Amino acid sequence: MDRKEIRILVVDDEPMMADSLKQNLAEDGFTVDTASTGAEAIELFDRGAHQIGICDLQLPDMDGMDVLRHMKDSQPATETIVMTGYGSVARAIEATKAGAFWFLEKPFDYEVLQPLIAKALERRDLMAETETMRRQLSTRTEYFNIIGASKQMQMIYETIESVAKSDANVLIVGESGTGKELIANAIHYNSLRAKKAFIKVNCAALPKELIESELFGHTKGAFTGAHADKDGLIQHAAGGSLLLDEIAEMPVELQPKLLRVLQERSYRKIGSERTYAVDFRLITSTNRPPADAIRDGMLRDDLFYRISTITIHVPPLRERTEDIQLLAEHFFKLYARKYQRPINGISQAAYQRLFAHQWPGNVRELQNVLERAVLLAKTNKIEPVDLPFENGSMPEKSATGGGWDVPANMTLEDIEKLVIEKTLQRTGGNKQAAANLLGIYRPRLYSKIRKYKIDVGSLATT
Ligand SMILES: Nc1ncnc2c1ncn2[C@@H]1O[C@H](COP(=O)(O)OP(=O)(O)OP(=O)(O)O)[C@@H](O)[C@H]1O
Ligand SMILES: [Mg+2]
Repeated sequence: MDRKEIRILVVDDEPMMADSLKQNLAEDGFTVDTASTGAEAIELFDRGAHQIGICDLQLPDMDGMDVLRHMKDSQPATETIVMTGYGSVARAIEATKAGAFWFLEKPFDYEVLQPLIAKALERRDLMAETETMRRQLSTRTEYFNIIGASKQMQMIYETIESVAKSDANVLIVGESGTGKELIANAIHYNSLRAKKAFIKVNCAALPKELIESELFGHTKGAFTGAHADKDGLIQHAAGGSLLLDEIAEMPVELQPKLLRVLQERSYRKIGSERTYAVDFRLITSTNRPPADAIRDGMLRDDLFYRISTITIHVPPLRERTEDIQLLAEHFFKLYARKYQRPINGISQAAYQRLFAHQWPGNVRELQNVLERAVLLAKTNKIEPVDLPFENGSMPEKSATGGGWDVPANMTLEDIEKLVIEKTLQRTGGNKQAAANLLGIYRPRLYSKIRKYKIDVGSLATT
């Protein structure tokens, strides 16, 4: 699209601000309108929607958020950038939740705005492509090893299809076991980088102190224990893709360093002054809602905006129950074949239980349940008795009402240890699912596992 055809609406009641923005944008070749009140902005916008809206949050006659919502509601393809005068990040995050592409704290230099406009336009194009694709694709029940026919999954396939070939950063958000890694795989293997490396780093699993040197590499003698030069994973991902799993668990001190790599496309090893150019496509994932992670100070907002050019939200299994049957069938066939069991189906009654269950461990839990059921089944069908729960709830949970006698000699710590062990047993050793059930974050579970010296491996098989 020719720049002249790109129309930008600047909404600000400070004439100085609005005029200087208009001048700069016009010099870059865009067509620019300005409005000094919310009412004027809406009127201008309605006359011919602008592709980009840049709006101050505090306007004399109305809240900038309402102008923004109006733009998004009447023209969802419009990308908006919010300016905020009093540096209130909370308000700005609220705006990005309502669909704003970015926010800027005033005052800012035009140089900061320039790349944002380019990014916003890039995203607009990708979205438009997704739309076209949506019309072309028929219903799919499977896509690159991802199973699911629900509307939500269809949308995800379309998004993958349209963004894979670009180098846009993708953030995948979803509860544990929803298939984030499968989606990351589909993106990489559908991209032009498919034949190059796909490096995966789990930020929650690596000890905090190690992440930096693992990612960036180090020179010999950079710190005690650095006996030789070592390339970082960033280097290994060159030409390919890098998946940073559980990005919100990356130490905050390290986040600016990653941000710099993304901005400058170059990095330095620990202990070295030399910069190396790198080229990788970044995919990140998190099972913590990013807004929460930002609020809790775990994820820096500047990094968040950089990594989330495209965000894919993977809904939990309980919100797409129509996929349960398809997935159950798939896993049942897979394990019946694997274990050579003469089972030819899942009974209606067993399906009823599967549909009623809440699936805190999502698809991974369903997979484990089916594996176990295939092994346990005594007839040629999987029956409710082969499932580890009754009437839609886990037996342990429904049993708590019946009372539980605490042995007199147990300390609170003994009890905690026991509960963690039992839960891990129930999830087949899956720590994230256990953390979900226990209502704590995974790092906290890890530290408790260490504290109580729990042998997860042996629990998984009991
Ligand atoms: N839609 C799906 N179709 C088929 N298998 C799936 C699907 N979603 C998840 N799975 C399976 O469930 C398991 C968990 O998936 P995956 O590792 O991608 O989840 P995740 O969201 O990355 O979980 P975590 O947050 O714990 O890392 C894998 O064995 C995967 O193959
Ligand atoms: Mg994962």
